[in-house]
Amino acid sequence: KVESVDSLLKSTGREGEEVRVQGWIRTRRDSKAGLSFLAVHDGSCFDPIQVIAENHLHNYQSEVQRLTTGCAVDIVGTVKPSEGKGQSIELLASEVQVVGWVEDPDTYPMSPKRHTMEHLREHAHLRVRTNVSGAVARVRNCIAQAIHRFYHENGFNYVHTPILTASDCEGAGEMFRVSTLDMENLPRNEQGAIDYSKDFFGEESFLTVSGQLNVESYCLALSKVYTFGPTFRAENSNTTRHLAEFWMVEPEVAFADLADIADLSEQMLKYIFKAVLEERADDMAFFAQRIDKEAISRLENIIENDFARINYSDAIEILENCKEKFEFPVSWGIDLASEHERYLAEKHFKKPVIVLNYPKDIKAFYMRMNDDGKTVAAMDVLAPGIGEIIGGAQREERLEKLDERMDEMNIPKDHLDWYRDLRRYGTVPHAGFGLGFDRIVSYVTGMGNIRDVIPFPRTPKNISF
Ligand code: 4AD
Ligand code: MG
Repeated sequence: KVESVDSLLKSTGREGEEVRVQGWIRTRRDSKAGLSFLAVHDGSCFDPIQVIAENHLHNYQSEVQRLTTGCAVDIVGTVKPSEGKGQSIELLASEVQVVGWVEDPDTYPMSPKRHTMEHLREHAHLRVRTNVSGAVARVRNCIAQAIHRFYHENGFNYVHTPILTASDCEGAGEMFRVSTLDMENLPRNEQGAIDYSKDFFGEESFLTVSGQLNVESYCLALSKVYTFGPTFRAENSNTTRHLAEFWMVEPEVAFADLADIADLSEQMLKYIFKAVLEERADDMAFFAQRIDKEAISRLENIIENDFARINYSDAIEILENCKEKFEFPVSWGIDLASEHERYLAEKHFKKPVIVLNYPKDIKAFYMRMNDDGKTVAAMDVLAPGIGEIIGGAQREERLEKLDERMDEMNIPKDHLDWYRDLRRYGTVPHAGFGLGFDRIVSYVTGMGNIRDVIPFPRTPKNISF
């Protein structure tokens, strides 16, 4: 029976037992005494297991001594207390079977030296074999599982919302168009040019920017729901925080207002951070040591303290009266730029801050109008070091008000008649938010570039893998 490196390193009292592990060589070191030390990893935890291969193995010279980083091996050995530092046990090999060689070790892109992030990005299909990308992959999985657990424990139903859609939820015009191209029978306009306007079997279709509108429909029957899937934005921005394809977690709660989902967002983030610290202590120790020395303490601080909450209007006042020199001028009505968000979270509050009640003119049509007639019940959660990680709102549940907003913003009502139905039949106050999943992975790991926390990043000029 094959055992994972993780379970082997965690278990105790195994000395003398024979075990079998399968994985890849991280490093090989030969000693003068006629034996080799192999560090073997299988991705189940941060550390490799140290394997000692002695020169009496039948393939010691012919194979073991030719092993290089990346070779796949299947090993049987006896558990021994380790003499080296850092690890409690090692394996004394009785069999080292080479399953797959690395063809040309000199040109292998993941050779054991330290690589730049750019180099790893250029080899996105191989980079998960490195310490850093492997740790990111495990932490990313841990966060995803924690999110599902959090919502499950709190009575939410997980809903699968569609990826192909006709509606632009955020109204920002950043959608990718989807075509059903029959190459032999391309639709042509009168001038003979290809007509892309009716592309989903005769209708316009796009990749979704958010599952929210659909998840609202489920919320108004199941009360507490969330969707968690890929979303797409055709924004041609080259930043360390934007992807053209990213994952979003979107809870939606019936009979809830803005304050309720602000609370929910804070509880969820603390739950996620606790889970990561408990379950991925090994990977987090690596991030704290190699990537960002505050990786662990930052999360601990957030867990222990309340988030700050502030109205947009008061946030503007803070920004207007502070001594910081901003690139973009501040006045009531502006959309906060990343530098403003970071000032609030990093310098003013020094912790996550929830900004509430934004001007209606910079927010989406579905957000609930406040009594002042100027602001809507919107919220953004801003975190030190990254800025916006969550955007949400209480939804406009009153049909006349919703229609007014749609008219004001020139949103065709017939397209969203199904959405308006939700206000015609048993409407209730409800609210929800969207968490940028990749941004939270980047925040937790301290990896500064969002391209390094998603397996195959989709950004302008990044589609080949
Ligand atoms: O603020 P956004 O646009 O909100 C919505 O889409 C709402 N419909 C969500 C809801 O209320 N259900 O996006 C939500 C979050 C942002 O706070 C940000 O963290 C992330 O999604 N996000 C991106 N992450 C990576 N790349 C991009 N291009 C992103 N755009 C938004
Ligand atoms: Mg937003």
